[in-house]
Order: sequence, then C-alpha cells, then structure tokens
Amino acid sequence: MKQEELEELLKEMSPEEKAGQLLQVNAELLSGGGVETGPSAGNFDRKDVWLAGSVLNIVGAKKVRQLQREYMEKHPHHIPLLFMADIINGYRTVFPIPLAQGCSFDRKLVEECAAASAREAAASGVHVNFSPMVDLVRDPRWGRVMEAYGEDSFLTASMGAAAVEGYQGASPETEGSVSSCFKHFAGYGAPVGGRDYNNVELSERTFRDDYLPGYQAAVQAGAHMAMTSFNTIDRVPATAGKKLLRDILRGEMGFDGVVISDWAAVEELVAHGIAEDKREAAKLAMEAGVDIDMMTDVYLRHVPGLIRDGILKEEMLDEAVMRILKLKNRLGLFEHPFRFADEDRERFFAAEKPYSSLAQRAARESFVLLKNNGILPLSETKGKICFMGPYAGQARMAGAWSFLTETDGYQTLEEAVKRIRQDVSFVKGSELLDRGRELRHFANGAAPVRNCSTPEEEEAWYREAEEAAKAADVVVLALGEHSYESGEAASRARIDIHSVQMELFRRVKRVNPNLVAVIFSGRPLELKEISDGASALLMTWMPGEQGAAALADVLFGRQEPGGRLSMSLPYCVGQIPVYYSEFSTGRPCMSQDPLDRSGSRYLDIPNAPLYPFGWGMSYTDFQYSGVTLSRPRMGRKDRLTASVTVTNSGTRRGTEVVQMYIRDIAGSVVRPVRELKGFQRIDLRPGESRRVSFEIREDMLRFHDIHMEYRSEPGSFTVFIGHDSTAENQASFVLKG
Ligand code: GLC
Repeated sequence: MKQEELEELLKEMSPEEKAGQLLQVNAELLSGGGVETGPSAGNFDRKDVWLAGSVLNIVGAKKVRQLQREYMEKHPHHIPLLFMADIINGYRTVFPIPLAQGCSFDRKLVEECAAASAREAAASGVHVNFSPMVDLVRDPRWGRVMEAYGEDSFLTASMGAAAVEGYQGASPETEGSVSSCFKHFAGYGAPVGGRDYNNVELSERTFRDDYLPGYQAAVQAGAHMAMTSFNTIDRVPATAGKKLLRDILRGEMGFDGVVISDWAAVEELVAHGIAEDKREAAKLAMEAGVDIDMMTDVYLRHVPGLIRDGILKEEMLDEAVMRILKLKNRLGLFEHPFRFADEDRERFFAAEKPYSSLAQRAARESFVLLKNNGILPLSETKGKICFMGPYAGQARMAGAWSFLTETDGYQTLEEAVKRIRQDVSFVKGSELLDRGRELRHFANGAAPVRNCSTPEEEEAWYREAEEAAKAADVVVLALGEHSYESGEAASRARIDIHSVQMELFRRVKRVNPNLVAVIFSGRPLELKEISDGASALLMTWMPGEQGAAALADVLFGRQEPGGRLSMSLPYCVGQIPVYYSEFSTGRPCMSQDPLDRSGSRYLDIPNAPLYPFGWGMSYTDFQYSGVTLSRPRMGRKDRLTASVTVTNSGTRRGTEVVQMYIRDIAGSVVRPVRELKGFQRIDLRPGESRRVSFEIREDMLRFHDIHMEYRSEPGSFTVFIGHDSTAENQASFVLKG
C-alpha cells in the first residue's frame, strides 16, 4: 500500500479498532494450543481478541495461513495480523545457545545461523522474531545469560548486529527473511542479585558505556522492532520509561521502528508501584512510546477512554498504530498476507535438515577447552575409555528457548561416540538433579523433570561407575545443569554442579585420575573442584541438536574446539560480578602474597576468575610476536594500525582468535583496565605464520566523559594483542589533542 492509503485506512478506524492494533495475543486466546511464556493473560473476550494487531508463538504454515485468512475476513478493515515468535537459537534446526555462539567470536557464523533460523521460521509463518537479545550480562546467577552474547559490549554489539542482518537479510523482500525485534531494552541483564525481573541499579555512565552499545548496534543494523524490558532503570520501569524510549531509543539512537512491551509488562507497571491501576498504566506506557501491549488488555480497555477523556491525544494513538501499519506494509502483508508461509518449504526443512552441518560447525566453534594436560584428543584405537554422567546418555541439550520445535530424539553422546569407536563403555554414574529435586520449564506445557531414584539405586550407579573407572585408562564425565535451569525465570543463587554429580566425580577421581570433564550448561558454573581434579575441562554449553556429534568429533580430535569464553568463569559465586573490563581502583592488587593486605582483594580467594574472558585452548599452540604500531602518535583523523605475527607452533592445524584490547591510561573519569576493540579468527597449518593487523580509529576511543559527552580524550593508550583478556603483549601510542 502507498502511504496515503495507510493514512486513509487509519482515518476509517475507530479508537477501539486502533487500540486493537496495539494488542498482541497468543494462540491460546485466538485459536487455542499456544505456549504461555508469561503469567496468564488478562480478561479478554472473543470479540476483543479478533481486533488484535498481532499474535505471538503461533507457528506452522497451515495454521498461520488459516488463521490469517479467518482473521482478515472477520476484521472490520481486513488488516492482516503480524505473526511473531521466539526463535532464539534456531527453529527446525536448533543451534547452540547465543552465549555459546558468542564464544565462537565468529560474526559470520552468527549471521549464518540467524539467516538459517529465519528461513525455517518464515516458512512456518513467522514474520517477526523476538531476537537477538543484546543485553549485556555479567552475572551468571541470572538464567538468561544463555540468551546473551556475554560480558563484553563490543562482542555483544558485533554479534547482535550480525544476528539482525542474518534475520532481516538485504531487504524485507529477501526470501525467508523475518523482522528482528531486539531485546530487552534496556539493561535487563543486570538485575540486582542476579534475580530475574529484579531492579537494575546502574550509573548512567556505566549504562551508556557498557549496556547500551548492544542495542545501538541492533538499531544501526536496521532492526524493525524493539522490546522493552521488565526491569526498572533508575527506578523507572523500562515500559514506562519516557526518557529511555522517546529520548534515548528514538531520539539519540534514531530508532523509528515499532516498540513492543515484554509479556504483560504494561500491566506490570501496577505491580511495580508506578501506576495506581491499569488505566494509569495505559497512560504511562503510551506516553513512553510503547506501541504494542503484549498479552494484556490494558491498552484495549483503557486507551480509547483516555482519549475520550482528553487525557491522551488521539495523535499519540495514531502514531503508534501507524508504526504498526507501516511494518505490516514494509513486510508486504497487505498484498501478501501469508508472506513466506509455505507448507512445501516447511516440509523440506523438516525432512532435509539443510542446516545440520552448520549446526555442527556452530557447536564445535562454541566449545571452550578450558584445560587440557594432553589427555585430549582421545585415541580412536588405543586405551580403554569409559563415559559416564547424566549427559552421556541423554539427548536434551537444546537451550530453554527451543520449545517451538521438537527437540526430543537428538543423538546422544553415546550414539555419537559409538559412530567413531565402538569399544568404549558407557555407564550411568548419576542422575542430573539431586534426589527428590523437581524442575519445571518456565513456559507451561512441558512436563516437569524430577529425580525419583532411591538411595539404593544411586549407590548402585556409583559403584558401577567406580568399577568401570578402575577398568578404564580414561574416564569422560558428561556433567552439567539441566536445560530448564537456565533461560527465563531461572536464576540460581548457587551455580554449582549438583551434589549427586559431584559425588560421582569425587568417587571416580579416587580410583582413576585420568578424567575428562565435559560440562553442559546455560551459564558459567562454579567449577573449581572439577577444574583442579580433571585432566581436561571442556565447556559445551547447550550445544543444540548437533551437540553430541560435534562433541564426539572434538573429543577424538577429528575437529578442534574453537571457542573462547564470552563470559568469565568465576572462581566461586561469591566473586560475582567478575568481568575482565574492570577498574584499577586506587589500590590495585599488585602482590601475589595471599597474606598481603595492601590492595583491593579478598582474604579467601584470588581476584582473577577461574578462567578469563577470551580464554580457550585448541589442540595446537600459537606464538605471538610483539605488537608493532604504524605510528606512535595519532591525530583524531588518523588511522593507526596495530599488528602482530601469529605462528602455529604446534603439530596440527588450528584456529586462533586473535584479540585486541585497548586501555585508556587516564581520563576525566576512570577507565577500564582494558576493553575489547577487535578480534579475528585465523586458521593456521602447523608452522604457518600470519601477520594480523587491526585498525585503530579515534571513534574507538570514545566514552562518556565527566560531562557525560561521548568523546575521546587526548593522552596515552596501550594496545594489547593476544590470546585472551589477560594478554600482556602490548605497545603504547598517544592520541594527540
Ligand atoms: C518473555 C520474554 C521475552 C519473550 C516474550 C515472548 O517473557 O521475556 O524475551 O520474547 O516473553 O515470549
């Protein structure tokens, strides 16, 4: 439709019909059979629901086409619905969780996984995808770290932009593209205590310098939609945040797309204590610029009345409705209301699984080898190997947001390993959850999981494992948390491996010191004892449908683990928040003497995390030359090149993630001890060397200064180029005034 036709359509609509466009409902309300990813819906009735402007989490070409047809016939102006869904790490093909994808440090891979997810979801009728989540995360107690790209702003921004580009393609006409709705705006990843939905207390400078870049990158990548977050910022709920949404998101960032609330977040303004009732909640959210009210009847019930009473101007409602109509028009829904929903293509994706090899590559590129004394890779022929633990025999290794597709029936590690070597033994070892523990998925419908074993059974499994370990040369323990223990509403105050698994580890360790620990989780866990006791430690996160196949290949050395930590692994939960881009303080901890009391430190643990951001091993070694700079001083308009030569000094081909960090030595406000400003994955044959260069520009040195202006300041800088965030390989330069 032309713009003037949209204007005409808007003029013909009543306030109730306009308010209907601001309503988003789920399948349960429209056609039944939906997934509830939030608290039960408001008190809708059928008449209201048929005025809705969009629906969420209804997938399936046939169902979507039928619903769109029925809806458009019934709607007084025959306006098409927008179909939205949570395709967080894949739809038909389930990829590793975003936190794991962040560990790949492979922007192109993230874009490819997003594009593949979009094609599969678009064939099943999805128009808008509630992804990427570009919340910065530095607290692994928070279960939703699994959906983020980690603790660093630059990495989050790089991967978030790649995901948006992957989803949306070159244009809305791109076959199989979907609109990207980035989330959760803003600062949701920093809840106090790591407890989901809790307040967020950040200084404005930290908020702007560290937490906003991910969202900014999504806007610059052209995302069509933004979702508000549940939390408060500066004690104002984001969904009522006029300054946040109208001044920062639209004003400063230039976002001109649709803003949708998170599930029931408009109504939750009452629970927050910022709105007396739903009528005031409607007023505050509208004034803040929230266009769509997800899954409550607040806008539908109260916006027309607020306009009739002269409290809200109809222009404000028209502005919101027009943004929604424009998005529908941008996606061509008025002419092609079924868009890419196509049963044949849907069947093709389900039957042919064209993205399985991509999923396998994504899994192995996200695995992070934290420790290896040489026990890995395992031999395909020599020695006796025994596998055990809850993840040795079970297939559930998709992330918590994979409920829109079938995730049972994945290959287990046992099946994958036996395709490489049949004479390995597998024993149970232990359950995943402690006895008597029960766990539900955060979205209703999934059956709860529980450990109903008896003490006798448990003891028998331990004894069997001890015997098997005695007879083996190497024991591989596949341990971890359940996929239901991360994701939304999955905060954990203790981020340990459950005691039933630790007992297995301790008992096996006593009879066989040659242990390989493989950890499945949606977050960094507390792994000090396992790291100390195992000869090798591999993080596989929630690797998705090809996780077992990728893991077997990596364990036997057919492929290498390609990941580097996107989030620091804490020494223990008491160290949280721990992240590499910290500040020196006035008393930096300089001494290695544990009794030294002169610096900012703990009495009982080191300051350093167990494993730092950017860390990860491969099966070969890399040597770095010193850092050379193209010039020692640079003006604002200059470009400075920082280079190293990297050599594969090992015996097999390998991939290195070369990382560049910069430190601003002194500023008008304190500056982090270093910040990631570039990374490159390079693949080298044994003995091969390659020159790796990074361009440094003045804009890369900017931050919010003492006057809250975003600018660089002249002075000295240090460039670090190396293997991870502790690299000391450095050179210095000066930015001239
Ligand atoms: C949930 C999540 C959000 C998701 C939405 C729709 O509560 O916070 O990330 O996209 O509701 O399922």
